[in-house]
Amino acid sequence: MTAPALQVDQLTVRANGAALVDGLSFDLAPGERLGLIGESGSGKSLTTLAILGLLPDGLTVTGSIRLDGTEVVGARERTLVGLRGRAAAPVFQEPRTALDPLMRVGRQIALPMRRRGVSGRALQGGVRELVSQVSLDDADRVVRAFPHELSGGQRQRVALAIALAGEPRILLADEPTTALDVSVQADILALIDRVAREREMSVLFVSHDLAVVSQIAPRGLVMRHGRVVERGEISRILAAPEHTYTAGLIASARRFEDALERRMRP
Ligand SMILES: Nc1ncnc2c1ncn2[C@@H]1O[C@H](COP(=O)(O)OP(=O)(O)OP(=O)(O)O)[C@@H](O)[C@H]1O
Ligand SMILES: [Mg+2]
Repeated sequence: MTAPALQVDQLTVRANGAALVDGLSFDLAPGERLGLIGESGSGKSLTTLAILGLLPDGLTVTGSIRLDGTEVVGARERTLVGLRGRAAAPVFQEPRTALDPLMRVGRQIALPMRRRGVSGRALQGGVRELVSQVSLDDADRVVRAFPHELSGGQRQRVALAIALAGEPRILLADEPTTALDVSVQADILALIDRVAREREMSVLFVSHDLAVVSQIAPRGLVMRHGRVVERGEISRILAAPEHTYTAGLIASARRFEDALERRMRP
């Protein structure tokens, strides 16, 4: 059996004694996709930040997170720098904050490749290749552009290209489509699906929306107040939620969709 790409065991994150993530455990196999679902404040982002060793000061972490077999909890910054981007790379909700506003897009995509030792023509070619893989047209303009010169959807494609430039084993996608228009959301989901398949990359896909998660991941965990309340196949969870909280999440998503539809009607 191949070793898991990620093993989270009894992960607990506390602030002032209160557990914000409470005894979370799951594994992610190479190439596997898993959804992390829960309403705002359930601890999804703290979980992704903990995996990257990027939790803000003042939070205490216990339990274990093994990325490619290396322990992240309590690891030195040097170890974490070696893992970030390569073992696991993030795509966050708001690409505007994930990108450096003062650096041209091409350079930002090149950085993780440089770290892998790519240089010269291979670097230039590699950046072009990635820009086309994330379906950004007009590559010449895009690589010379600053983030503010691109649309939200284009920026999220750039953020994905930066993540892919590190050739990560795991993509940590934290609400990557939430800030985008519905039609752009669908494009980005399809893109993540395609690049993950091509690269046999694992995906941890974080969202408050079970229907969105079902497009990407066959299995998922439902979190509430930092704890897992339900786990299993997303299709089963959608059809027959075991927990009243999950049923509530599904119902409120449907109510929102209905309300949106009513407003859109002429
Ligand atoms: N640095 C911090 N200090 C204290 N509490 C924090 C800190 N960061 C986050 N929290 C709290 O931890 C809880 C979980 O936060 P987290 O960002 O993981 O939620 P989330 O599930 O990602 O929510 P959202 O869907 O809104 O992104 C929230 O109640 C939040 O207020
Ligand atoms: Mg979050």
